Amino acid sequence: MAGNYSYTITKKEKLSNAIYLMDVKAPRVAKNCYPGQFVIVKMDEKGERIPLTICDYDREAGTVTIVFQALGASTQLMAGYEEGEAFRDFTGPLGHKSELIDMPREELSKLKILFVAGGVGAAPVYPQVKWMKENGYDVDCIIGARNKDLIILEDRMKEMVENLYITTDDGSYGFKGNVNDCIKDLVNNQGKQYDLVIAIGPMIMMKFVCILTKELGIRTIVSMNPVMVDGTGMCGACRLTIGNEVKFACVDGPEFDGHLVNFDEAMKRLQMYKTEEGKVTLRQREGATHHHPGCGCHDENEEK
Ligand code: NAD
Ligand code: FES
Repeated sequence: MAGNYSYTITKKEKLSNAIYLMDVKAPRVAKNCYPGQFVIVKMDEKGERIPLTICDYDREAGTVTIVFQALGASTQLMAGYEEGEAFRDFTGPLGHKSELIDMPREELSKLKILFVAGGVGAAPVYPQVKWMKENGYDVDCIIGARNKDLIILEDRMKEMVENLYITTDDGSYGFKGNVNDCIKDLVNNQGKQYDLVIAIGPMIMMKFVCILTKELGIRTIVSMNPVMVDGTGMCGACRLTIGNEVKFACVDGPEFDGHLVNFDEAMKRLQMYKTEEGKVTLRQREGATHHHPGCGCHDENEEK
């Protein structure tokens, strides 16, 4: 499987049926990364580039923790890697750090923040709540999943968050309902007030959280995970519309003001990338802003 590659897996843990956690030796990334950023992993020469948000990092040990769901062919292959094996590339840190990190401390200390983690979205939420705890700020956090078996990182989160709310769609654990039902319960029934919501999970969840928080008048940050290829702003794959502007999640994000994100367009693009026909349509529509080799949306030979 792995050749003489340097990004060695130092720990592998199965978090649920198809969700895996890995610690990867990547000292340069570990030294420079912050919550909110991501990496692009390439397993071998021929491997697809897989963008993954950073779940944790240990600057002294030189390791970065990633969490992924083995859904497609590449991530299933990745799930077959064991401790001691290594990846070819582990590019990062990419994207901007969470805006909380550079916020003036006085301002940050006044904010009542609710983190909302949907499913695998608990992985990118974790380093943010950890950073808040380590810097002396209390936050509330919801972890929502379809059922009990899909709740991940609960123990680690408990160490960082005093008010941790678990909710499952089927009621098999914690509160019964989706994350929005839980937010409504906290705000309407438990008298909670928030100044900022940070919601990370599937796009459809982030869309509906934003509709709710707009009604409630709570500013909301989301972490966008469109298709990414080069991670450098060149290929156009991760294009988004934010307000009236075109942005690229890899270089301008991945975090954005959720109330400005055009989620319907982002979800449509995600679907279109799944078919060859869709990729061609995107290419025709986006022309010059989406005309680079490597993104997989067109025949690369045409570039030569
Ligand atoms: P899921 O579909 O099981 O949903 C998780 C929870 O989100 C649900 O239990 C529910 O509480 C909430 N949710 C979902 N749809 C909702 C809706 N319409 N309204 C209100 N709440 C809703 O999640 P999953 O299978 O773990 O998610 C996988 C997806 O998440 C993948 O597409 C993956 O790419 C994405 N993801 C995104 C990020 C990111 O950075 N945004 C990070 C990791 C994974
Ligand atoms: Fe963002 Fe290519 S992945 S522009």
